[in-house]
Amino acid sequence: LATIEFNLNGIEEGQTVTILWRGLPVFVRHRTAADIEEAKAVPLSDLKDPETDEERTKPGHEQWLVMIANCTHLGCVPVGESGDFDGWFCPCHGSHYDTAGRIRRGPAPLNLVVPPYEFLSDTLIQIG
Ligand code: FES
Repeated sequence: LATIEFNLNGIEEGQTVTILWRGLPVFVRHRTAADIEEAKAVPLSDLKDPETDEERTKPGHEQWLVMIANCTHLGCVPVGESGDFDGWFCPCHGSHYDTAGRIRRGPAPLNLVVPPYEFLSDTLIQIG
């Protein structure tokens, strides 16, 4: 399917679920206040692929992070809540991503990709 709808009800704060969109795994994370605060505190000058936290989330829904779950190095699926920046760690070659899914260390060149998506309501997103 080109677009999918996904209901966010039941995803607890601090929890990440992985869904499939166009055959790709997609992480949907319900971020904690600490995740958001940490992401917002990072100066853009510290980032290899500079993007603000606001550019990676939707206004008014910043607790939700939606990203294609393939490392931008060679495509492995990173492990959540790990790595040196409290986000994701890719065990294939050691890329560390932060709580906004931005690459912080390791060989991956780019942040985890945010797919096109929108909120249809506070608890329903459409990806694609
Ligand atoms: Fe993730 Fe190489 S595929 S670091």
